[in-house]
Amino acid sequence: MSPMPSPPPISQEPLRIDICKDAEDLARHAAGLVVAQASRALGARRQFAIALAGGATPQRLYSLLTQDHYAYQVVWPAAQVYFGDERCVPPDDPKSNYGAVREILLTGLRVPESNIHRMRGEDDPPAAAAAYEQELRAGFVDTPRFDLVLLGMGSDGHTASLFPGSPALSETERLVAATRDSEGLDRITLTLPVINAAHTVAVLVSGREKAAMLRRVLGAEARPEGFPIQQVKPAGGQLIWVIDEAASSLLDPPAAPQA
Ligand code: 6PG
Repeated sequence: MSPMPSPPPISQEPLRIDICKDAEDLARHAAGLVVAQASRALGARRQFAIALAGGATPQRLYSLLTQDHYAYQVVWPAAQVYFGDERCVPPDDPKSNYGAVREILLTGLRVPESNIHRMRGEDDPPAAAAAYEQELRAGFVDTPRFDLVLLGMGSDGHTASLFPGSPALSETERLVAATRDSEGLDRITLTLPVINAAHTVAVLVSGREKAAMLRRVLGAEARPEGFPIQQVKPAGGQLIWVIDEAASSLLDPPAAPQA
């Protein structure tokens, strides 16, 4: 069992790229970031609002958070857990982002059910999006500002459920929208206004299959409307890319993992 890394320092530069050796190292590094941001927020305000990413990449991170080394550092029962997006399926469907972390949150981290804010994928998408926006706004005294938003990146440059060409990308008022993925599956997603209002956004990217898109996204190339992930720019916050060597292999120069 490799020694647990200590939480990374919370640096303040607006853009940071953290290169990790492999998927396991990425998960551990990201767990350190979650703990660091939670400790900062709970220490400052005794509150911590996080939006979880869906998909496969963060699953190891989520299970790591239940391990003593990380779990004892965060008063998870004080956290408010939201979701960056959801597939429009029932919560017990294998595709459900909520379903994938439900046990970790409830049993592993003992987050009270009332503090877990899932998007109702089983409902009519536009109605579920509107209802989630109401729940989101009710959870914050003023404009919703997450302490930490976790995101992934698809090989097409999408993030959350903001897909290339989606009208939701030009949303400036609504915080939650109904979208549809490339397979025609309805989705619910946070929009850029609320993502970019976050104190910290961490984008987790792992695997060689993401390398080509990462080169385009972090390189000079940007399409007129840009890839959705390129529009994640937390205005008064910090953007941290957490990338493993395989995903960074096509960057110029190929980035080396930090010590
Ligand atoms: C989802 C996610 C989506 C995901 C990317 C990367 O619901 O699928 O919100 O944006 O983060 O597609 O997915 P992987 O981590 O599975 O590669």
